[in-house]
Formats: sequence, C-alpha cells, structure tokens
Amino acid sequence: MTLQPLAPGAATSALPPLAVQGLAFSWPGGKQALQGCELQIPRPGLWMLVGSNGSGKSTLLRLIAGLLQPCGGAIHTGLKPALVFQNPDHQLLLPSCASDLQLGLPPGLPAAQRLARVEMALEQVGLAGLGGRPIHTLSGGQKQRLAIAGALATDAQLLLLDEPTALLDPTSQQEVIQLIRRLCSREQAPLTALWITHRLEELDHCDGAARMAAGRIGPWQSGAALRVGLTPLPGGRAER
Ligand SMILES: Nc1ncnc2c1ncn2[C@@H]1O[C@H](COP(=O)(O)OP(=O)(O)O)[C@@H](O)[C@H]1O
Ligand SMILES: [Mg+2]
Repeated sequence: MTLQPLAPGAATSALPPLAVQGLAFSWPGGKQALQGCELQIPRPGLWMLVGSNGSGKSTLLRLIAGLLQPCGGAIHTGLKPALVFQNPDHQLLLPSCASDLQLGLPPGLPAAQRLARVEMALEQVGLAGLGGRPIHTLSGGQKQRLAIAGALATDAQLLLLDEPTALLDPTSQQEVIQLIRRLCSREQAPLTALWITHRLEELDHCDGAARMAAGRIGPWQSGAALRVGLTPLPGGRAER
C-alpha cells in the first residue's frame, strides 16, 4: 500500500503532512534504491532534499506520488500529491495552456467551474490571461510554472518537485522558487513542497533541508547549516 489516506474530515492539522517509515524499494533489475528510508515533514512549507546521483531521490518522489509500489515500509499522508519534473516538456501534453490544465481537472465538473479553475490556477502562477497561448511559445520558466499550475488545478496539496529549476536560466529559477515559496507560506491552506535540488543557493529559501545518501535520509537541518557541509562543485552546484 503506497498511500494511506486519512478518513475524510480527519483533523489533518494535528498530523504531519507526510510521514515515510522504513521505506524499501528495489528496481526490477535487483538494484536496491531505498532501504529503511525515514522522512517526516513536520508542517506545511518548503522542504528540500540534496544528495548525489543515484542516492534514490527520484525513486522516493515516485513512491510518494504513487507511481511505484514500495517493497516494504509505509507512506502516510492525507494530502493529494503531484509531481513536477525537471523538464516541463515531459509533462505538458496538450497544445494550449488552458487545454493542458483542463486535462488534470476532476471529471464531472460543470464547464463554468472548469474554466474558473483553469483561470485561477494560471493566475496563481503568474500566467493570468495566457490560457489560449500555445505552449511552444512559452519560455522554459513559464512552462515550468504552467506545470505547477497543473498541479494546483488538480487540487494537489503536496508538491513533489524533482530538480524543477535544473534547466532554467537564473531569472526563471528565481521566479519558480519564489512562486513555490509563496504557495508554501500563504495564510490560507499553505502547501507542502518536497523539492530536490543540486543548487546550493536554493537552500536559502527552504524551511528545512536534509541529505539523502544510499537510499536513506538524514535529519532536517537549516538550509544554511546543510550548505556548510556540502562541497560546492563548479557552477555553485553540489552532490551531482
Ligand atoms: N527505471 C529504473 N530502472 C532500474 N534502476 C533504476 C531506475 N531508475 C533509477 N534506478 C536506480 O535506482 C537508484 C536510485 O536512482 P534515482 O532514484 O534516480 O536517484 P537520484 O534521483 O538520487 O539520482 C540508482 O542506482 C539508479 O540507477
Ligand atoms: Mg533524480
């Protein structure tokens, strides 16, 4: 069982947004990607994971999203998850912004509500009025914000972001991180985001950061404290 949703109406405020206990996962080839993996996100906010290539970060996000089934352990969350990938071209499917967002809406919504939801999602990510724009005319940063709008339109409350700024220029990178920061800090229903990064400067924006190595996650630290322990690589990156 990947996700163990809470009963409808359960008081979620008292429970952590996400708890991962003793998670284990092996790829069919026999590669053990996660073993005894523990993670607790204590409250809504922006939480970051850093770790070298192959340490199991993407596998963990896919397990939390329910795309993979664990071999052992459990994932507890009352939140609806949504994945945001490094390359938005891998998740934007339909030609215009609005049609792509419509794709993720729950079925059975009346047309007026569908339209309103799409417009609200676009507005939340700073793309108001661009519903009719062909996706191929958007910049990389705008595409990534559209992918985030897609998550918002589905009512996701747990954003799983797998190096979402790795392909972006510095300005777009800032726009995306500020957007997620805002969504995770808003007074009304703040979101929970689990963000994987190799960019050291992004750690300055998080509520907590942890290191992942060989399929396990260390304790939460401040972004600044984690930075101290990391060796920067050329270009300000770490743990590639
Ligand atoms: N589709 C796959 N099939 C087989 N092994 C995989 C697959 N994806 C990842 N792995 C293996 O699982 C381990 C963890 O990979 P991954 O979760 O992608 O790490 P990270 O995101 O931290 O770089 C690695 O050893 C990787 O080779
Ligand atoms: Mg990865």
